[in-house]
Amino acid sequence: MILVTGGAGYIGAHVVLELMSHGEDALILDNLCNSSRSSLERMASISGRRPVFVQGDVRNRGVLDTLFHEYSINAVIHCAGLKAVGESVREPLRYYDTNVGGSVTLCQAMKDAGVFTLVFSSSATVYGDCARMPINETCATGNPSNPYGQSKLMAENVMKSMVASDPRWSVGLLRYFNPIGAHESGKLGEAPTLTPNNLLPYLLQVASGQRPALHVFGTDYETHDGTGIRDYVHVVDLAEGHLKALQALRAQRGVHIWNFGTGQGYSVIDVVKAFERVCGITVPLSYEPRRPGDIARCWADPGKASLELGWCAHRSLERMLADAWRWQCSQTHAFDTQVG
Ligand code: NAD
Ligand code: UFG
Repeated sequence: MILVTGGAGYIGAHVVLELMSHGEDALILDNLCNSSRSSLERMASISGRRPVFVQGDVRNRGVLDTLFHEYSINAVIHCAGLKAVGESVREPLRYYDTNVGGSVTLCQAMKDAGVFTLVFSSSATVYGDCARMPINETCATGNPSNPYGQSKLMAENVMKSMVASDPRWSVGLLRYFNPIGAHESGKLGEAPTLTPNNLLPYLLQVASGQRPALHVFGTDYETHDGTGIRDYVHVVDLAEGHLKALQALRAQRGVHIWNFGTGQGYSVIDVVKAFERVCGITVPLSYEPRRPGDIARCWADPGKASLELGWCAHRSLERMLADAWRWQCSQTHAFDTQVG
């Protein structure tokens, strides 16, 4: 059985679906601080299978010990964490406590239970403002400009030290670029409870009439149209990569770092235009100054994951946007599904 922490959340739920569709049993531990039980219903309605769910906190050693004692867990995919950059600036202790402290507690419980296979949700944010594009795994980690990014880098370093001290571990540090999109069924996707920080959830709320305009943060970057470039990757491609990473870790010990991106960068305006083309909706824009802490460009060299895992993201930007819009429409019930 695979323990998926944060398995009720956006990425974790897609990972759980992927595991179940490959015959793996999944156990979710989630405190539901940024998700709800409805994602469990959705997973069941898509797959016909219901993962075991335990509501609890990854920082709670007692809960972890009970799970490792009661279930036959052989690996952990650790997605539980906090991810809002702005919130991390306002509440740094909560971010370090959850993202670093929670990871330490989990690793301690795993070690004591004799479970040494771990896949960790890291982030391209650990590269900071990298001068060289595309970014490969040999690029130095940078100095992330916010506590969220720092907490991911610290958790990675904790895991690297842990592996260096004990050869029994197999740890995969998955550096996600910009996950977007939704399950093609339209039944599972990202459901932000507060004002979204990220481009796509905000754009979707503008497109569905919940907000007046999309703020385009910065029009004077050194890019082809002046707006920031990112590597958007479909959440289902990402989920498939977790299974591949798990399979590789079962065969090979040590710490392994893999970039999870497409290798293709798109600007904010590229994304808006593609969305308008695919979904047939005009997105009102409001041009704003740069957002503090943002970098101009960030895209992956995903070659290592392709070579070592046989994984590459194959869903196009258009597909990501169509799937995300289908999910948004199913959420708001305000529109008929308009995507092809
Ligand atoms: P999410 O908020 O949808 O999912 C995280 C889940 O973890 C939620 O269900 C939440 O309730 C749970 N959780 C949080 N703290 C917990 C705790 N202390 N104990 C138990 N459960 C807890 O976020 P997501 O987008 O699915 O992200 C998953 C992971 O990937 C996070 O660690 C995040 O930092 C990382 N990540 C996300 C992105 C992104 O853009 N979505 C990019 C890079 C890395
Ligand atoms: N942007 C806008 N308007 C918005 C939101 C974003 O113009 O309303 C722009 C940003 O300036 C940036 C691009 O859209 O150029 C992408 O911004 P996001 O906030 O969607 O994503 P980031 O690249 O800033 O960060 C995301 C996650 C981090 C993760 C990082 C990894 O939020 O958790 O990707 O690359 F670490």
